[in-house]
Amino acid sequence: MLLPVLLLLRLVHAQCTAHNSLAFLSPVSSAPAITATAVFSNLSSPRGIVFDSHHNLLVVERGLGITAFTSSSPTCNGWLRTVVVQNANFTQGLQVHENSLYVSTSGEVWRYVYDPLSRTVHGGPQVVINGIPPDGELTTRPILLHPPTNPSTLLVSCSLASNIDLTARLPSSGRSQIRSFSLLAPPPQPFFTGTLLAYGIRNPAAFAFLPSTRLWVVDNGASIDNVTGLTAAFVNDNPADELNLVDLSDPAPPAEGRFYGFPDCTTIWNPDADPVGDPQYTGFERGAQFSLLLEPERGNAWCQDVKNNVPPRLSFQAHSVPLDLKFFFPTPTTTHSSQSLPHAWAGDAFVTFHGSFDRTPPTGYAVVRVPFSQSEPAATAGDTVLVQASDLATCPGTCIRPVGLAFSHDGRLFVSSDSSGELFVISAA
Ligand SMILES: *[C@@H]1O[C@H](CO)[C@@H](O)[C@H](O)[C@H]1NC(C)=O
Ligand SMILES: *[C@@H]1O[C@H](CO)[C@@H](O)[C@H](O)[C@H]1NC(C)=O
Ligand SMILES: *[C@@H]1O[C@H](CO)[C@@H](O)[C@H](O)[C@H]1NC(C)=O
Repeated sequence: MLLPVLLLLRLVHAQCTAHNSLAFLSPVSSAPAITATAVFSNLSSPRGIVFDSHHNLLVVERGLGITAFTSSSPTCNGWLRTVVVQNANFTQGLQVHENSLYVSTSGEVWRYVYDPLSRTVHGGPQVVINGIPPDGELTTRPILLHPPTNPSTLLVSCSLASNIDLTARLPSSGRSQIRSFSLLAPPPQPFFTGTLLAYGIRNPAAFAFLPSTRLWVVDNGASIDNVTGLTAAFVNDNPADELNLVDLSDPAPPAEGRFYGFPDCTTIWNPDADPVGDPQYTGFERGAQFSLLLEPERGNAWCQDVKNNVPPRLSFQAHSVPLDLKFFFPTPTTTHSSQSLPHAWAGDAFVTFHGSFDRTPPTGYAVVRVPFSQSEPAATAGDTVLVQASDLATCPGTCIRPVGLAFSHDGRLFVSSDSSGELFVISAA
């Protein structure tokens, strides 16, 4: 009975860490004028994170539940961690608006009545969305309230059942798609009654609006190691991971036509990865669509026709594994301090790269900034690394594996790192 007792002790006692007292498990490197500071460690695979209205950072700790981190507690001169809800089934999705706390499980979205003052929930959860096809290989299940200040809709995603999931071609599979639900409709709402916003997005791991009718979505490319005709050198650098745009202001194509390619079409990262073994791609540009030739009628020409397949707006290094996306919007209530991120970054996107499991040498293990200009990725700029594991050759090991992102009210960027069990913050140096 040793284990349950230890687990109980860990849960009932709030924990406190002093400010600036922690070291990262593995060293990280930061961009000039930026610093990364560990806030908490020994967490249970922290994934989605979000700030409540009282500046508590709420975290999905996988296998444990929802925890709250507060830096203004009278009992702790640092960050205090308390358990809000104990439930091992939460995935990654987490949203909070005033007294409503939304979490996702593999097959449902739940709402709790939440009190940010006491950091507790009242009563059991209400099932808001049910009947989501349970996640297969990847359990992300992000959710998004929109618009953030006075939400009227909830966006819910479903990822793939398997690495190259042929069922994802059909919206009726529920796979690799994003649906929208009115918060006014009586719960529970079955997943398949939601409005289909986009499909063929393999693992829509995170999404955010900029501006309010344009939904930006990060997606993880498939492992194409076993696709006929592709060499090990080619798949080491392909396909790209993606930043997609779902333009909801555009009436055409209709939602049923918003197909983003998975499983048939994918994206070139490095056309010259193997000019001897796979010379057929050397004329392609980065970001171009190519076919995995799963069906003869869905070849390269089919994939490159935007009437069939919407290509990404931006490509990320193959095997980066983007898992969250947040835009930086300093508001009139943002408090400025010497630690706030530069105001010049307003409107830019920030993305976590969880990192590769099958690339040599490893890539990712980073948080990047994607400069935007007038609500579009700034041409050709791509992404710039803010913070990254210092020695990628040692990863995964105890390297940071960034997942969730949340901006604090004072313009700093908080990050969860699941396998290293850490929370850290990115601020101006
Ligand atoms: C994390 O847990 C390990 C093993 O229980 C312990 O040795 C270490 O002190 C803990 N670190 C922190 C920062 O709590
Ligand atoms: C978690 O999910 C499993 C499988 O569906 C279920 O048996 C269990 O009761 C759930 N746990 C909680 C705390 O809801
Ligand atoms: C490729 O096939 C090998 C051998 O069957 C298998 O072990 C591996 O998991 C497959 N890789 C992918 C990405 O499907």
